[in-house]
Amino acid sequence: MTPASTALLFVPSPGAASGGCWTLDFACGTGRILAHLAGRTRSSTGIDVSPGMIELARPKAPYAELIVGDITRQNLLAGRTFNLITAFRFFPNAQPELRLSAMQALRRHLAPDGLLVFNNHRCDSGGLFLLARLLGRRPHTMSLEEVTDLARAGGLEIAEVFPIGTLPATDGHMLVPPWVHGVCDRLAGAVGLSARLAQNIIFVCRPAGLRGGVAEGFRRPAWPAREVVHA
Ligand SMILES: C[S@@+](CC[C@H](N)C(=O)[O-])C[C@H]1O[C@@H](n2cnc3c(N)ncnc32)[C@H](O)[C@@H]1O
Repeated sequence: MTPASTALLFVPSPGAASGGCWTLDFACGTGRILAHLAGRTRSSTGIDVSPGMIELARPKAPYAELIVGDITRQNLLAGRTFNLITAFRFFPNAQPELRLSAMQALRRHLAPDGLLVFNNHRCDSGGLFLLARLLGRRPHTMSLEEVTDLARAGGLEIAEVFPIGTLPATDGHMLVPPWVHGVCDRLAGAVGLSARLAQNIIFVCRPAGLRGGVAEGFRRPAWPAREVVHA
């Protein structure tokens, strides 16, 4: 398992009460998240607007149903619902209109007891982006408030938030050893600043208005895990 693929914190437990997990990975790209879900779900579907990306995903996720298209414009999933939907490295890269139409489309395909797990890997208050602003740059980012508003506008509520990567890091490139990342993440957590300092946050959302904790059938790996630095 690669560090990047372990970014997905919630993995469906085999034999969950619901009888298994139907997963949709939106904007699946090269299949990074689908590969992580291999063997953990009852069914896996990946969708991406780019045929080239889907071709790259195919060998990584041979078991998955792969669909080329844009669910914000096309009715590609014909009323199907999923109890785990993932969307990694999508929202902060998208324009506001696309963010909203994607969120609304994903909500339509989320089962009533389902979870949408996505990340904001470009949090505006993250150290790297603060530094860029100090240097006079205008990095493309998304704030915590924008994420909260987006989830609400899409008919979802944020059930859990996992700030990760207090120190800047990209896939496979850490400035310091992994254990230093872990220590910094823990320190930020201890002073209650994780969500403000992290440049990468994973959000777990459920349909608005439902009560209770994270759905049965999902388990959370030990936390903090150094591998999740690169979500
Ligand atoms: C940065 S990649 C992330 C890929 C993958 N989720 C991951 O975390 O490795 C963003 C992906 O979003 C896809 N994308 C952009 N707009 C889309 C849309 N409207 N519908 C589906 N996919 C879209 C792009 O083709 C690209 O593969």
